[in-house]
Amino acid sequence: MAQFPSEPFRIKVVEPVRLTSREERQRALEEAGYNTFNIRAEDVYIDFMTDSGTAAMSDSQWAGIMQGDESYAGARNFFNLEEAIQSITGFRHFVPTHQGRAAENILFAVTVKPGQVVPSNMHFDTTQANVLARGGRVANLVIDEAFDPTSHHPFKGNMDVKKLESFIQETGPENIPVGMMTLTNNSGGGQPASLENIRATAEVYHRYGIPFFIDACRYAENAYFIKLREPECAAMPVLEIARQVFACADGCTMSGKKDALVNIGGFLAMNDEQLYQQVCQELILREGFPTYGGLAGRDLEAMARGLWEGLDEEYLAYRIGHTKYLADRLVEEGIPILEPPGGHAVYLDVLRFLPHLPQSALPGQALACALYLEGCIRAVEVGSVMFAEEDPETGEVVYPALEMVRMAIPRRVYTQSHLEYVVQVCKQLYERREEIGGLRYVSKPKLLRHFTSRFEPL
Ligand code: F0G
Repeated sequence: MAQFPSEPFRIKVVEPVRLTSREERQRALEEAGYNTFNIRAEDVYIDFMTDSGTAAMSDSQWAGIMQGDESYAGARNFFNLEEAIQSITGFRHFVPTHQGRAAENILFAVTVKPGQVVPSNMHFDTTQANVLARGGRVANLVIDEAFDPTSHHPFKGNMDVKKLESFIQETGPENIPVGMMTLTNNSGGGQPASLENIRATAEVYHRYGIPFFIDACRYAENAYFIKLREPECAAMPVLEIARQVFACADGCTMSGKKDALVNIGGFLAMNDEQLYQQVCQELILREGFPTYGGLAGRDLEAMARGLWEGLDEEYLAYRIGHTKYLADRLVEEGIPILEPPGGHAVYLDVLRFLPHLPQSALPGQALACALYLEGCIRAVEVGSVMFAEEDPETGEVVYPALEMVRMAIPRRVYTQSHLEYVVQVCKQLYERREEIGGLRYVSKPKLLRHFTSRFEPL
């Protein structure tokens, strides 16, 4: 029987949640245009839409909120955050931002020129959209195992270093203003990259004079996977592993809403003095003065404390074990998921779950809706709605290799019996999978389609 280290915390505050009736859920789905983003949170029992900004903060973080210094410039909480970021990442400069995508916006605003390309293992959708918004392009060069949901490779988030080097030679390093790596690789199932691979990637970027930035949203979970799976790092403290990862890079973008355990906040860190000066100019225009960057003093304090809590090894053992528990239980019940599970989410493997539906029938979106209808569980499609691309010349639709439904687990929020409830709902759905029909678009925007499209049953 699957098991995980029990919670290294106890519950002090509770928030009621309600299981609505099937009729209410049917109505909510219709009103939402079969898009789970349009469902009211109060109509959801288990909210696995995202692990972003949904963590339960600790008593220490809430106490820090009361000690927010709301001065316009030089608030003491900025210096607490600076101490945490410099101690963990080692980067010389940083600016706070209101969340991760704001850090991306600022970074690409000052680095990317039209026609230039930003490679990564895989970009998250906001990262990609921020590069495109500057007239740039992206390249996703993760190892091939990332696209095989049954491969048990321990580091499916690794960069394909050979592909990267050929890509740089073909593109010309002068056309690559910055190279990235996403840790863990969210778009590829929350899979980690190894320290060895991060070092090799950094070596290639640096040999061609390309600055290397880490998308560090889930860096602590990635560091914990390195400790578990990379034998040379087994005895190293997670903090030390994280420092070694950051030591490979020239900077990072960070959404504090993940591994810094806050409901809002992010930052952009870097070593280069000249870049920092440009970043400050852009920051003042878009976010705010460099000692608050779009956040209140209290948010800076919660993030400073959350950064340390997110690195705590007992917490990480529970966190990674909790996610693995859900995955192991689903596998025990014969339900197809992406294996091994990543750190923050369990992904249902839709092409094996609903083999009777072609990707043109949007099976991932259909399964996300079925999960809600069956069990009041909210999850997100990561498949054709999010990633299918139309060939601009032929109009032909190219579907993504992976069609998934992501069940992202908020940090410190749900108990083991909540997870068990999810397993039972998935099991019921899987037994009646042939009854699940496809969907078609009623309306869809050009960019970031999954947020606002509307659908109807086929
Ligand atoms: N990079 C990665 C890898 C992410 O997962 C996210 C957000 C961002 C950047 C942007 O950060 O939301 O603070 O602006 N991911 C959330 C998710 C939204 O649900 O996976 P943000």
